[in-house]
Amino acid sequence: MAIAIYPGSFDPITHGHIDIARRARKLFDRMFVAVVANPHKRPYFTLEERVEITQAALVEEGVNGIEVISFDGLLVDCAREHGADAIVRGLRANSDFEYEFQMALTNRDMAPEFESVFFMTAKRFSFLSSSIVKEISMYGGDVSTFVPKSVERALLGKLGHAG
Ligand code: PNS
Repeated sequence: MAIAIYPGSFDPITHGHIDIARRARKLFDRMFVAVVANPHKRPYFTLEERVEITQAALVEEGVNGIEVISFDGLLVDCAREHGADAIVRGLRANSDFEYEFQMALTNRDMAPEFESVFFMTAKRFSFLSSSIVKEISMYGGDVSTFVPKSVERALLGKLGHAG
């Protein structure tokens, strides 16, 4: 049984992430989406919110059979704990490569038993990022083509509280 873990900040999850999760799910018998606590990045949504939003978005988009978990600490420890064989990541433009290469090689140094597997983004999502979505939303722009309705609602809710 092949098990994959797809880690990220998911702050918030976008259609780009969902596309990767949907395609990866087809290749693995079991799959986890792992939301990192990542206190250094000062996330916009709390960890609990990000887990909830990610779960709702996957359900809304009909991506089934994925378990959403959270972790704090090293990804390889989380992968080990969940019996993963592979770490899934998405690759967008060139600029992602160096960071992903560094992470994959470092993770392999720490835990050679995991294979890092990369999925090329769909063309229409190649420049989509959670940061761009947050910025558009903060300035009152329309993010409906970038995220599912449930995420849009969460973004609006956050704005409501901030304002
Ligand atoms: O969505 P992101 O922010 O690009 O995801 C980055 C993530 C969560 C994959 C990375 O920050 C991570 O693995 N964090 C856990 C801590 C860790 O294992 N660090 C060493 C990686 S080389």
